[in-house]
Amino acid sequence: MTTEHPAGAMTAREFYSGLPKAHLHVHLEAAMRESTLRQWCSDDGIAVPPLVSYPDFTRFLAAYGVLIGLLRTPERVARLLDEVMADAAAQGVVALEFASIPEKAAAFGSAEDALEFILPTAIEAGRRHGVWTGAIVSIDRGAGPEHALEAARLAARFADRGVVAVGLVADERGNPVADAAGAFAIAREAGLGVVPHAGELAGPEEVRAALELGVDRIQHGVRAVEDPRVLELLAERGTCLDVCPTSNVVLDVYPSLEEHPLPRLLEAGVRCSINADDPLLFGADVVDEYVLAEERTGVPREVLTRCARTSIEASFAPEEVKSRTLAG
Ligand code: ADE
Ligand code: ZN
Repeated sequence: MTTEHPAGAMTAREFYSGLPKAHLHVHLEAAMRESTLRQWCSDDGIAVPPLVSYPDFTRFLAAYGVLIGLLRTPERVARLLDEVMADAAAQGVVALEFASIPEKAAAFGSAEDALEFILPTAIEAGRRHGVWTGAIVSIDRGAGPEHALEAARLAARFADRGVVAVGLVADERGNPVADAAGAFAIAREAGLGVVPHAGELAGPEEVRAALELGVDRIQHGVRAVEDPRVLELLAERGTCLDVCPTSNVVLDVYPSLEEHPLPRLLEAGVRCSINADDPLLFGADVVDEYVLAEERTGVPREVLTRCARTSIEASFAPEEVKSRTLAG
């Protein structure tokens, strides 16, 4: 009898698909399946946006904008959520924290209406596929201080209905994390987590500034490697970085996966989770990210298994989900 792989020769993809993990840094619209993207673009008579190659961050955001524009009916949003949860389950994701900018959801009359629909639909889709899920309300750092406060107040109103945290997205350069201090205070007051993007397009000073604001986790944060004191602070506090290696290469933060600082962050004792950020736009899902981290950045499998454990521990999933998964 022949089998596809001899006993004991499980592929890396099989190993990491079976490893229970939390996916903590993923933007909802960019977790769309490529087949769904192509179908909707064809139905709407628009060009498929570029995938995986962006001359600059602005062009990346433009591709992202096309995805947002496709979500113009509640039916499409519901289908997206169902497919995202089904794919997460197939990737061994037991807890999924998806980021979304509710006021950009064109299918709904208001940001409030968007969350009224997205949250229960996501939770129900997660239940169908066996995935716990929570939403991160993204603050668009380019949209000004009023927007930041408004987004935080909105998130706060949904704190007991599926929103777990506020995030901070788009271009860091010229939009420092400290500008969102007031918004973060509102979120914290409502019992929400705070998980900004920092130390991606800007340097380690932004990671330090985020730490000074008392954030729960940092999305990316990788450029902390440029300052040993910031690395030390991260390790000391145990703040988790939600790292996305492929994203950092596609968006030119690092020239290649081989030069990605993930091994150095882990060696410095920084807690890291492994994530896909925008899987459709970067061409790698969360399982690919683990495989690439092993094969291209050279982090050993035992250490990546620890990253999966960290992802569960650092998530906002209920204790009962965490302890059940960690016990396994
Ligand atoms: N929004 C989606 N992906 C992002 C990234 N990598 N950086 C900042 N904002 C984003
Ligand atoms: Zn991101």
